[in-house]
Amino acid sequence: MTGAPPVARTVDVSVVRPLRGEVLRAGRPTEATAMPGDDHPRARHLAVHAGDELVSVGSVLPEPPPWAPERRGWRIRGMATREGCRGRGLGEVVLGALIDYARSEGGEEIWCNARVGATRFYARAGFVTHGEVFVSEGVEHVAMWRSL
Ligand SMILES: CC(C)(COP(=O)(O)OP(=O)(O)OC[C@H]1O[C@@H](n2cnc3c(N)ncnc32)[C@H](O)[C@@H]1OP(=O)(O)O)[C@@H](O)C(=O)NCCC(=O)NCCS
Repeated sequence: MTGAPPVARTVDVSVVRPLRGEVLRAGRPTEATAMPGDDHPRARHLAVHAGDELVSVGSVLPEPPPWAPERRGWRIRGMATREGCRGRGLGEVVLGALIDYARSEGGEEIWCNARVGATRFYARAGFVTHGEVFVSEGVEHVAMWRSL
């Protein structure tokens, strides 16, 4: 890691997939790193690098929350910071930039299915939970959202 402040840059989805795979799809085949909506024309994929190393990624795409299909909602997917680089504010930089982008695109609210272990991370950015905890691919999740 360098001392320079972290910057989230727009990248092709192919850049975010390896870290996504490592953190969120460990032990699964490469195809498992693709997520629905990755190729949506308005989807945005962001990455923070430390030197040449990819250290944090996240994506956002237009998709209303299932509980409010009439709203101009944006969905966050694939938030991941490399193990060993967590807790340094990199994810916060990515999340903040995803929120700014969705807002700039006219979004009314932003949401995600958060891993239960990441709920404090999203809550610090103003997200609140919606509904009950559910299990997806063996991991406990809960929907979270905030206005833009
Ligand atoms: C969630 C995640 C993307 C946050 O990224 P990050 O770069 O660590 O984010 P920040 O540094 O801005 O926030 C750090 C949070 O992690 C905590 N933290 C500190 N050291 C940590 C470590 N070694 N490992 C994990 N979390 C740590 C911080 O205290 C802070 O906690 P809080 O938000 O629960 O209060 C990252 O922890 C991660 O990739 N987790 C595994 C995958 C995951 O759960 N992704 C989210 C799917 S919804």
